[in-house]
Amino acid sequence: AEYQKGVKRLYENGIQHVPGKYILPENDRPNEKSRSPRLNLKLPEIDCAQLNGPNRDRVLASLAYACENYGFFQLTNHGIPEEIINNMSDVSKRFFELPFADREKYMSSDMRSPVRYGTSFNQINDEVFCWRDFLKLVCDPQPDVLSHWPCAPIDFKEPGVAYAKATKLLFLSLVRAILESLGIRNRDDDGILEELENGSQILVINCYPPCPEPELTVGMLPHSDYGFLTLLLQDEIRGLQIHHRDQWVTVEPVPGSLVVNVGDHLEIFSNGRYKSVLHRVLVNSNSYRISLASLHSLSFNRKVQPSSILISQSNPRRYEGTDFSSFLEFVESSDGTKKNFIESRK
Ligand code: SIN
Ligand code: FE2
Repeated sequence: AEYQKGVKRLYENGIQHVPGKYILPENDRPNEKSRSPRLNLKLPEIDCAQLNGPNRDRVLASLAYACENYGFFQLTNHGIPEEIINNMSDVSKRFFELPFADREKYMSSDMRSPVRYGTSFNQINDEVFCWRDFLKLVCDPQPDVLSHWPCAPIDFKEPGVAYAKATKLLFLSLVRAILESLGIRNRDDDGILEELENGSQILVINCYPPCPEPELTVGMLPHSDYGFLTLLLQDEIRGLQIHHRDQWVTVEPVPGSLVVNVGDHLEIFSNGRYKSVLHRVLVNSNSYRISLASLHSLSFNRKVQPSSILISQSNPRRYEGTDFSSFLEFVESSDGTKKNFIESRK
């Protein structure tokens, strides 16, 4: 069916109405109030440069506050060179501008495939589709995956690798700060840092073309991220919403920064102190939106457990251990929306 070919193509074909496959049941649609721009939220800002300076302790306290109360923060002065970001944004855009036949080669129903192009979330299982096309690239574990990455645009790989390396390094320095903010100072305490150094990294490029009837659908359904942390580069177009104090609020884009959010694995590791918060993406009728998510966690078969340091008699263990493979099994056996993955294990 035409809808299997994705929304970029529907948009290019100039459709005037959202096809039935993309129309959400009325109860799942974003309501008028939650779409209103009055509900924009400025996320807490964490200044990465200050994190490595004399004010580290104060920034760590803000970091803890953000992870406990928002599950999200805006990372400024992150230090990734503008050139790396611009080159990556540029090839990402150009990938989606390729003729459909060139993108189609990377379509795969295998959730474990090192490269996967598709529409919605999992177009084999999804009952209702989301207004989103994506390219998913496994970056780590190296070295084998690169050979599967797209060969078009011809200059795709180099900026992709540079961006992946830079975000991985940034992720690791954030993890050090996060461990410290949780009161885990000695890297031998849990060995988690080392496991994350050797862990998994997945880049997801999301493309949300203008949608003729944006009130009938979404770019992404409410979900939490399964990994440890996600580093998200969003452009200047609004769309990302987080569930904050029982309301959907739109995250105000801050140019030059990255949105960072706590994933399920960090919620588990912190024994519930840091929150993996539901978020979703709205689409709009005028603007093309692209976002780039870098998802980081342990390697695929490694179980994440609540840190022994954070468990005590007064704060008992709140989660079973889990790993990325069981997440994939869960996704493959469900309708693919992963609405309440964490809830399902508690
Ligand atoms: C995501 O939730 O991974 C993507 C968010 C976005 O496109 O802003
Ligand atoms: Fe997400």
